[in-house]
Amino acid sequence: MKKIKVFAPASVTNVGSGFDVMGFAIEKPGDEIVLKMTDEPGIKITKITGDGGKLSKDPYKNTAGLSLISLVEHLEYKKGIEIELHKKMALGSGLGSSAASAVASVYAFNELLGKPLAKKELIQFALEGEKLTCGGTPHADNVAACLMGGFVIVRSLSPIDVVNIDYPPNLYCTIVHPHLEIITANTRKILRKHILLSDAVKQWGNVAGLVAGLVSGNYELIGNSLQDFIVEPVRSILIPNFYEVKNAALKAGAVGCSISGSGPSIFAFSKSKNSAEKVGDAMKKVLNGIGIGNDLYISKINKTGPRIISD
Ligand code: HSE
Repeated sequence: MKKIKVFAPASVTNVGSGFDVMGFAIEKPGDEIVLKMTDEPGIKITKITGDGGKLSKDPYKNTAGLSLISLVEHLEYKKGIEIELHKKMALGSGLGSSAASAVASVYAFNELLGKPLAKKELIQFALEGEKLTCGGTPHADNVAACLMGGFVIVRSLSPIDVVNIDYPPNLYCTIVHPHLEIITANTRKILRKHILLSDAVKQWGNVAGLVAGLVSGNYELIGNSLQDFIVEPVRSILIPNFYEVKNAALKAGAVGCSISGSGPSIFAFSKSKNSAEKVGDAMKKVLNGIGIGNDLYISKINKTGPRIISD
């Protein structure tokens, strides 16, 4: 029986101004998956840990299962697969938890088969699973960032076109995760369906500025360009003391700060590890002050995405 264990990382998406089109992977946390090939046909989820009993073991209702089903059908694989999913990050955290499970699953299976598909080709299958969580409006930013590693731009969903871009080597990310669960599908429903052209102009100026700042290593431009005129003002209402946390991060020296994905996690960029730690202390202090439990992660951008832990 062939078996593999894979880790797939959390990801920060939107990155301020780039709603649904920008993202990057971080070093930890992340999910782990064990896949076993069996002779009995069919995909079974045999074990899930770390989800507090919230995830379904029905492969059609689980992001890891559904992604794998779509890949298995595409490859016309006729034998069976057993999945063990070990959630190592909170659900509804804004850190791409469902995307990490979906990516871990398709990446692991592709490795087991000796890599019939290139990494980029796996995005479409991971996205099939991710669709379970998006409330009918698919977005590939978490899946692409988790799978490709580094900093990604989702230029197009149809056809899928994902581009990796450069970023300053010393760019550090601080993330605080307030202990609240936010359901992505709900936070997508509350967004405005129509926006003013004048807001759109400001927003795409910032997206372009963010890309230019990252590629040229211009931290001032990165910080200025993180400003989000469209999504952050709406979603910030769901995160207690969001603007206090953001202001504390900026005052402590962060290059910029915004919501990670659909929240409630909040990320900030810094120019060094030392600065990222100071920023983390300042962000935590605000949440601790209002009695909201939280986790802190400090990470460089994860260049590689998923990796094999053992086979
Ligand atoms: N871009 C997505 C959103 C990420 O903000 O809704 C959440 O998974």
